[in-house]
Amino acid sequence: MKRVICTGANGFIGTHTVKALLDKGYEVTALDLNIERLRELLGHHPRLNFFKANIVSDDLSNFIQEGDKVLHLAAVAHFITRKDALKAVQVNVGGTINVLEGCNKKAERIVFSSTGSVYASNVAVPIRENGELGPRPENYYGWSKLQAERWIQNYKKLTPHVILRYGYIYGILKSWGAIGDWMYNKIPKGEAPLIYGGQQTNDFTYVKDIVEANLLALETPYINETFNIGTGRAVNIRDACEACLSLSGSTLNAKIEPSRSFDYPIFLYDIAKARTLLRYSPKWTLREGISDMLKEMPTQKEVINAPKLLVH
Ligand SMILES: NC(=O)c1ccc[n+]([C@@H]2O[C@H](COP(=O)([O-])OP(=O)(O)OC[C@H]3O[C@@H](n4cnc5c(N)ncnc54)[C@H](O)[C@@H]3O)[C@@H](O)[C@H]2O)c1
Repeated sequence: MKRVICTGANGFIGTHTVKALLDKGYEVTALDLNIERLRELLGHHPRLNFFKANIVSDDLSNFIQEGDKVLHLAAVAHFITRKDALKAVQVNVGGTINVLEGCNKKAERIVFSSTGSVYASNVAVPIRENGELGPRPENYYGWSKLQAERWIQNYKKLTPHVILRYGYIYGILKSWGAIGDWMYNKIPKGEAPLIYGGQQTNDFTYVKDIVEANLLALETPYINETFNIGTGRAVNIRDACEACLSLSGSTLNAKIEPSRSFDYPIFLYDIAKARTLLRYSPKWTLREGISDMLKEMPTQKEVINAPKLLVH
């Protein structure tokens, strides 16, 4: 079984994916600035190694051997203000170039975690990878991720790639974003969940489907391709909130706040390309994902007492 080098392994998606990779029998080398979420796994798993590494400044060729597969997740992975723009470019663009240099003809492929933020808010829906307007980011985060995509494409003769543009993701360990905030910060504390606007719809994707897409991308014969990864279903934000409340057994009502300029009115992916080539088949409806999440949710006490683990 091949080895996977996973950057950003201690993050939200990294933690879930590393567990799945180990379950599938891969050997995993986890790279990150932090270790705390992987510590328990490390104690039990002989096929998991962790190295504290900075993707911006360390020589990553020390970690990558001939034939390794690289799953590149490390990033400044949230919306970025002008104040943080330089850091985001250093990590998301410069760090990606450094990862590509570390691959240096040795890696079998690089799988890159891109984002729906590469698309403009008025993109035609359902969003196709090469739709009419194409990627046209409207914020610093989207720009930095699209630039990283371009660098990866420029290196394709040296390192084949698969680019996954994840949509909105929710799941255990993500305590930010609408669902994360409701499930971690509001509902368990008896506070009204906030909805901005209320008309928008989103392609809410459970992290276990994202993990499945990562596993498929590491093995697909369709390299040098870009895929939208979501569910292909649009759910209204009020319905999403109602699902979180009712499945949590809460009688709270959502509080509606004015809409925000950066929210997409309708975000819905066309996932036909991923279905056909990657054989990606999302399994989780929003209600199923929230129910599954609830099974693993820590108690309210644990949420409050473990801010380091849950809030980042
Ligand atoms: N979470 C989402 O909703 C979402 C949606 C679309 C795309 N993505 C992309 O998926 C990837 C993973 O996202 P996530 O939600 O797990 O983010 P996260 O913030 O939870 O994890 C990112 C990890 O990268 C590590 N990291 C940051 N800078 C680093 C550096 N210089 N060197 C080494 N490690 C560094 C962090 O320590 C962290 O563990 C990111 O590339 C993100 O852009 C995430």
